[in-house]
Amino acid sequence: MSSDEHDKDHVRIFDTTLRDGEQSPGISLNSAEKLEIAHQLARLGVDVIEAGFPIASPGDFDAVESIARADFDPAQPPIIAALARAQAPDVEAAARAVRDAERPRIHTFISTSDIHIVHQFRSTREDVLAQARAAVAHAKSYVDDVEFSPMDATRAELDYTAEVCAAAIEEGATTINIPDTVGYTTPEEYMAYIAGLYRLIPELEDVIVSTHCHDDLGLAVANSYAGALAGARQIECAINGIGERAGNASLEEIVMLLHTRGDVSGLHTSVVTKELARTSRLVSRLTGYVVQPNKAIVGRNAFAHESGIHQDGVIKERTTYEIMDATSVGLDANSLVLGKHSGRAALKQTLAELGFVVEGSALNTAFKRFKEIADKKKQVTAMDLEALVTDDLRNELASYTFDSFEVEAASGREPHAKVSVTLPDGRLAAAEGSGDGPVDSVFRAINAATGIDAQLRVFRVDAVTGGQDALGESSVVLEYEGQSASGQGVATDIIEAAGTAYVRALSNVVRKAQAAALAVDLAAGAPVPTP
Ligand code: KIV
Ligand code: ZN
Repeated sequence: MSSDEHDKDHVRIFDTTLRDGEQSPGISLNSAEKLEIAHQLARLGVDVIEAGFPIASPGDFDAVESIARADFDPAQPPIIAALARAQAPDVEAAARAVRDAERPRIHTFISTSDIHIVHQFRSTREDVLAQARAAVAHAKSYVDDVEFSPMDATRAELDYTAEVCAAAIEEGATTINIPDTVGYTTPEEYMAYIAGLYRLIPELEDVIVSTHCHDDLGLAVANSYAGALAGARQIECAINGIGERAGNASLEEIVMLLHTRGDVSGLHTSVVTKELARTSRLVSRLTGYVVQPNKAIVGRNAFAHESGIHQDGVIKERTTYEIMDATSVGLDANSLVLGKHSGRAALKQTLAELGFVVEGSALNTAFKRFKEIADKKKQVTAMDLEALVTDDLRNELASYTFDSFEVEAASGREPHAKVSVTLPDGRLAAAEGSGDGPVDSVFRAINAATGIDAQLRVFRVDAVTGGQDALGESSVVLEYEGQSASGQGVATDIIEAAGTAYVRALSNVVRKAQAAALAVDLAAGAPVPTP
């Protein structure tokens, strides 16, 4: 137990990027990507990593298990939480997935709102109470650290939620989380709800109260803050605010609010704020979810001054128009780090400074790509290296690979592409296609080569850094057999980046469609829904 845990003003940061965040439409992270994010979250200093929902699929189970087995800093290993509905098979799967973690937690939940109990579960309050009790007791038989969430609490009757939470505490729950599942509450109401629970359940003083707020009305951070003012000492949040629908409370915003205005709340976290920008970039890159330029804390413009008056003030004295320092969130990281003649050892060392442990064949691949890029770019920056290393993680589980392409394009003529793709069985497939532009013709040729008629839903290309020689990073979202999934690719040539992103999205969406079909077969028509 760390000294922070005895500090009454310490707010635990529970990161749910890999669970609630991963439920955002189109996000499909593989195990290697989830593990990389988990390592970065640990460097960021979050207290709890919710690694996933193990019952949902074998892939989810494996990802949670690999994070539970990861080599975190033994001096400060994060708690690894696994989600489970209040049902025995879920609790058992969660317990198995986190059993090797240094500090395992099972997070079980069931709704207490009548809207959910009556309409969704066709159940009764008595049944829900009994299920909550049984699930917490079951989880407690595996781990000491059990979190219970009365889902949709903010639309549930206070007295009934209090009765269910009291039962959960009696069965051994150590954290009681109060979800604003549909992002409906307001700061005053949420504060009063939590105060009401403290009044009705004297034992609540003996456990940690937690917030879990969704952003449907843009109030997730404000509500989480209100919850902390009412006594919550754990905040559930996600990097870049990703999550179901409008997302969760954004981790970087709530952390910097507590950090910057600790003078008003008296509260603090253990987050290493200098790691915020890098964590945001990593999550954005691997999920394909772009961070809007004006996003608080980590947006490209969060510390940029456009108005002459503001620029003048900041040049004279930074605090005239800045309440935080860009370096305090790590937004100053894009300096030149390696030159064209740098060797393998320098690359390894620089990557380690950037937080990536890259060794063996992964280092060989990274070095080869670094040399290719260094030949084309004047400067290789920290951002370029991040883009390259994370790009290689994307190959795990990629059943199709984009091998080569050739495009003919001239004004007044429809562009024509020839591609070759390696199929899951190792065969090379070549095909041709024509379309509205060079990229479209490559996408059509890939569909012809793979025989998969996926529908393109999103296509984007962004520059990793500024400058004409910048690396291009492409993101593609495809839909196939009712599933959607994204893929990303990085290259100096944007057609190559786009083709790579498309083929990775294809691998992800085909895998998702196969998993969904298998789940339906196994459960005779009842796949496990995400919460
Ligand atoms: O939003 C929600 O209610 C959840 C629970 C599973 C905590 O994500
Ligand atoms: Zn949620």
